[in-house]
Amino acid sequence: VTRPGPLTDRKLERGWPAATKTRFRAATAADIDAIAPLAELAGAPFEQQLRDGIADGTAGAGLRTCLRDGHDAYTRYMAQRFTEHQRDNPILAYTHAALVLVAEHRDTGVVGALIAYPPLTAAAQIVDRMKQAGYDERERYKTILGAGMFLTRIKAVAVAEHARGHNLGGSLLKRAKQVYDQCHYEIIYGAMPEGRGLDAFYDRAGFTVHDPGTPLDLFVMFGRDTMIWPGPGERLFSRQRPH
Ligand SMILES: CC(C)(COP(=O)(O)OP(=O)(O)OC[C@H]1O[C@@H](n2cnc3c(N)ncnc32)[C@H](O)[C@@H]1OP(=O)(O)O)[C@@H](O)C(=O)NCCC(=O)NCCS
Repeated sequence: VTRPGPLTDRKLERGWPAATKTRFRAATAADIDAIAPLAELAGAPFEQQLRDGIADGTAGAGLRTCLRDGHDAYTRYMAQRFTEHQRDNPILAYTHAALVLVAEHRDTGVVGALIAYPPLTAAAQIVDRMKQAGYDERERYKTILGAGMFLTRIKAVAVAEHARGHNLGGSLLKRAKQVYDQCHYEIIYGAMPEGRGLDAFYDRAGFTVHDPGTPLDLFVMFGRDTMIWPGPGERLFSRQRPH
């Protein structure tokens, strides 16, 4: 068995061909209109900030730096982005770690999309709690930086109805895992609506589907009582990077 070599930024741009005449690749500005209805299918937001980031190339620029120049270069790149945003809101730097993938069919165009980025809301809540507990600004900054390079969230994965059942959704998840694994993200997680049969989908893609009402425990990362809870009617799924 030959193991695939490390992924490169050019590969992410050009994409992976698949048997179904479909290519998986990083989204560009030309894909934004096709991604919006797919995000809606998944019940996920497709924020203006992320659209702007895709259009101007900042979305995922950190991940591409990692695939091109290695993990040390990535750490340096992200630290610079967090510092740049320190005055307004350092969490804005998370856009540079966003991954937006599309599945493009040779004849019918974009038929699937995946959106992932480190968890903005969870990070904001964690640093709020730290502030209340008396942690100084430096500690909070380190936590935001650490969280944005340790933890990422699948916000949306969706495939157009006519193209479902051909493993396109599964392949989008597989490629997202490949990118974030190479960039040393420890945990990839997301939330899905309960009782729509999606547990089989995420289970097959190598995620653990948590029981309803059960949180994701981030003690390993933060060394204190930090949980991410599912919203009402949701279940979390998560996966740890293999070592
Ligand atoms: C979930 C989704 C992305 C799967 O795309 P796909 O390309 O068909 O996925 P795959 O071919 O890799 O896997 C299909 C498997 O997913 C599961 N699955 C997906 N959607 C399902 C649904 N609505 N009901 C039941 N099972 C579903 C099934 O196990 C299915 O296996 P089967 O083909 O053996 O029945 C697609 O159904 C979709 O876009 N749904 C609407 C958006 C959504 O719910 N996204 C997830 C939000 S968290």
